[in-house]
Amino acid sequence: MGVNGKKKGCWIWLFIILIAVVVVTAVAITIKKKYDEYHSKAPSVPGPPGAITKKYEDALKTATQFFNVQKSGKLVNNKVPWRGDSALKDGSEVDVDLSKGMYDAGDNMKFNFPMAFTATILSWAILEYGDQMNVVKQLEPAQDSLKWITDYLINSHPSENVLYIQHAGQLFTFANTYRRSYIVSIPEVQTYYNSTGYGDELLWAASWLYHATKDMSYLEFVTGKDGQQFGNFGNPTWFSWDNKLAGAQVLLSRVNLFDDEGDSMDEKLGLQMYRKTAEAVICGLLPDSPSATSSRTDGGLIWVSEWNALQHPVASAFLAIVYSDYMLTSQTVSIYCSGKTYTAANLRDFAKSQADYVLGDNPMKMSYLVGYGDKYPEYVHHRGASIPTDAKTGCKGFKWLESTEPNPNVAVGAMVGGPFLNETYIDSRNNSMQGEPTTYNSAIIVGLLSGLLTTSSVVKSFA
Ligand SMILES: *[C@@H]1O[C@H](CO)[C@@H](O)[C@H](O)[C@H]1NC(C)=O
Ligand SMILES: *[C@@H]1O[C@H](CO)[C@@H](O)[C@H](O)[C@H]1NC(C)=O
Ligand SMILES: *[C@@H]1O[C@H](CO)[C@@H](O)[C@H](O)[C@H]1NC(C)=O
Repeated sequence: MGVNGKKKGCWIWLFIILIAVVVVTAVAITIKKKYDEYHSKAPSVPGPPGAITKKYEDALKTATQFFNVQKSGKLVNNKVPWRGDSALKDGSEVDVDLSKGMYDAGDNMKFNFPMAFTATILSWAILEYGDQMNVVKQLEPAQDSLKWITDYLINSHPSENVLYIQHAGQLFTFANTYRRSYIVSIPEVQTYYNSTGYGDELLWAASWLYHATKDMSYLEFVTGKDGQQFGNFGNPTWFSWDNKLAGAQVLLSRVNLFDDEGDSMDEKLGLQMYRKTAEAVICGLLPDSPSATSSRTDGGLIWVSEWNALQHPVASAFLAIVYSDYMLTSQTVSIYCSGKTYTAANLRDFAKSQADYVLGDNPMKMSYLVGYGDKYPEYVHHRGASIPTDAKTGCKGFKWLESTEPNPNVAVGAMVGGPFLNETYIDSRNNSMQGEPTTYNSAIIVGLLSGLLTTSSVVKSFA
């Protein structure tokens, strides 16, 4: 399909991609600032990364390839032999070029809402772990993938290109003024990507804008009455493409841990609420903590939903690795979970356990990352991978869906949905619940693996 909502007026366009562009633009500015600085003087990192763990290097090099599989538009330097150009005319009816961007999953759709999440997580990974990615030559591929998405999202904005920092700020004001969830404007997307609320997106966007601009009004926003209203302080939530609250809490802990000088008492107190809640999230994840969640398989995988089961453990592990590196960098020795103390190493061990599970350390002895290890899913629910390149059926190839042969093309880097609660997996092409990879899954596994490459602290400042 083309792009959702393409027959609607421009204002609808604006609404769908609003938060998307705010967040993605804010992180893009931050990344640009960081890399301008990086190339103009010595890097501001606390020291070169330590020894690289080969296993995570190999897995990362596999995982980043799925972004190439998912690209829409006219492909440049295409490295996937079975992929071709597609969706070249998207946006042409409203005179904008929306040919780029990435398909969300196995069925060739483009949705801005999860695509923005993908771009933001990829950006976050680059900001925290760009130096580590660079050591294993994955920084440039990650930046290329990110740009492929931001080119699309920025083109999605109907007004003229003004300075990105103004762009994001104006959009934030718009979203904040006309508060409602994007599904109210575009009810058709509910069955695919339902949004359960907009409060988390507003806080997430303001947090990124604060990091990008250091404009105190964003800090005031998240620590003031809006933070109180939407922050859900004290209650851990699952981080996902729909609910970004836990991500905002970890990101604002960064401010609390690294640079709270100059903030007013209200802001300090507000930031502490985010940090407390971020730590409640982490305490829920650590397997032997008094507040450990019981949402786990016997093998120790965080398990929350039957559909795309791996998204929650991997997103959770990404937050844990980031938080553990914040602890290292800020020399925070431990966090407290109902009186018990946990170190950065404990958080790292948890993050590793989830990654290792995905990579084959599980009862199925199977890697859920296609192309990694000796045994991985061969019937991934993915149109491009399951239809032979010389097929004359176009996209209407149900005989390929129903074929009992493994996929003719390997969707290298795809992280599939994953196991049932009982840790079994049915490798069947029609099993989209377990066997469909998503682009946002790739962002979180790439983030997690980048953090696991080596033990190191993160950069203190994005700016
Ligand atoms: C989408 O989420 C909203 C808010 O949680 C809920 O009211 C609605 O029923 C959901 N729609 C679908 C199709 O699940
Ligand atoms: C595992 O769980 C799935 C989904 O609930 C079920 O269909 C399957 O039969 C179970 N397998 C075993 C071996 O219990
Ligand atoms: C899915 O495919 C498997 C064979 O691979 C078959 O046994 C099963 O009946 C199919 N299920 C559906 C719902 O089509």
